[in-house]
Amino acid sequence: MVKAKIAKMVLDKDFVVGEIDDRIFGSFLEHMGRAIYEGIYEPGHPKADSAGFRTDVSELIKELRVPIIRYPGGNFVSGYNWEDGVGPVEDRPVKRDLAWESIETNEVGTNEFCGWAGELDIDVMMTVNLGTRGIDEARNFVEYCNSPTGTYYADMRREHGEKAPHDIKLWCVGNEMDGFWQIGHKPAEEYGKLARETAKVMRIVDPTIEVVVSGSSLREMPTFPQWDATVLDLAYEQVDYISLHTYFTNFDNNLKNYLALSVGMESYIKSVVAVCDYIKEKHGALKTMHLSFDEYNVWYHSRPGMVTPTGGWQKAPHLIEDVYNHEDAVLLGLSMITLLKNADRVKVACLAQLVNVIAPIMTRAVGPAWRQTIFYPYLHASLYGRGTALLPSIQSPTYMTQSFPVIEVPFLDGIGTMREEAGELTIFAVNRDADSPLDFTCELRGFSAYKILEHIVMVSDDPKAVNTEENPDNVIPKKDGDASIDGGAVKALLPPLSWNVIRLKR
Ligand code: AHR
Repeated sequence: MVKAKIAKMVLDKDFVVGEIDDRIFGSFLEHMGRAIYEGIYEPGHPKADSAGFRTDVSELIKELRVPIIRYPGGNFVSGYNWEDGVGPVEDRPVKRDLAWESIETNEVGTNEFCGWAGELDIDVMMTVNLGTRGIDEARNFVEYCNSPTGTYYADMRREHGEKAPHDIKLWCVGNEMDGFWQIGHKPAEEYGKLARETAKVMRIVDPTIEVVVSGSSLREMPTFPQWDATVLDLAYEQVDYISLHTYFTNFDNNLKNYLALSVGMESYIKSVVAVCDYIKEKHGALKTMHLSFDEYNVWYHSRPGMVTPTGGWQKAPHLIEDVYNHEDAVLLGLSMITLLKNADRVKVACLAQLVNVIAPIMTRAVGPAWRQTIFYPYLHASLYGRGTALLPSIQSPTYMTQSFPVIEVPFLDGIGTMREEAGELTIFAVNRDADSPLDFTCELRGFSAYKILEHIVMVSDDPKAVNTEENPDNVIPKKDGDASIDGGAVKALLPPLSWNVIRLKR
């Protein structure tokens, strides 16, 4: 029996990070691979509804309580004409999607997607094309989606069978415009001016919308953080959020390095906050810029090397269908903890993506849908992580990595979230150590009369174990943790390499 390491956390009801915006539990669906076609939409499927959407997939999405979905891309959007996806389906053009070298039939477009999302009580976070297009198309699109009838584009929507506006509140102006791979990639000055003018005009059409400007595509971009500073300097007054994107890889199969990547995510957030606050001060602005972490996930199983896949000019090709293992679920849990720890500034976050394409939900055409390992930490955070984020004080043994040579990575990571009125407290905790358990104590201050409701543990004898169509419940969480409470302290043994959710109630 390996001796447990000792780790401690303190949660004080008065030490608050901030209110958690529900949109932090958002996700992303792009017209890419089998996310839409054969993912959420498959008219020939035995479980499809009358509109062609798969009810088995919708049920899994409902389980996750996804509050908002970013749509329709991603790289796809930078070559997309929204007009191709509205009106009678039989009249819609079949086009080449240049981002993923696939065929886009446009069977699903704005109205179908908004209708489906509305049924599931999910808000849409819409992205406009600033790659091949500009202000004119963006303003027309906002009118089409949000304006009451009586003018050209709003009346066009009514003619397309949608009298009531979709009332989309959150809009992204472009996607990853700093990336050389992006269709219509631009230098920061050019993009910053275009984003500012586009946002300005979109807000004239609908002053109630909020706008996300494209920050760097990843922290490792050579232009980070100057891109973000330049763009914000030009557009600060017209936008509400700046985007961040991160994809985790484990090409060298080094678990210690891999699980430290959430530490990098944390410092990426802090750096972007610093940029935002620098520009705020420079402008003498009253408004605080918030962060939209609108693409994050593990993405490497499907791409040996960093080669960008293409779809071979097929409809719904099998693109980047990563099969996730237990290690990935633990890292995803760490990412959720990181987002919650920064809930004062991160107001929107989108797990990229939701179905088939680097996704928690997988489907087979004319077959079943199942939950990948990463489904579970996302589910737990979404169900039990809402309310107020508490600032955790953590004392833990640490380890060093090659990825972050100067940072001591704690074996324990965690956060507390509370819903005070409901008398609910949740502790999310990860043991990064694959070799020994953590003897965990969480001292609670201001939570007298709270009792343990359950201790959910996700652990696996095989860190590489995955869920598949044949074995969909190979790695699942169990409510068999040993958490107990005594005199204001929660005690639990956190198994090696585990994701833990300890739920308490008054
Ligand atoms: O999510 C897959 C792709 O990753 C998106 O299209 C793009 O925005 C990012 O590079």
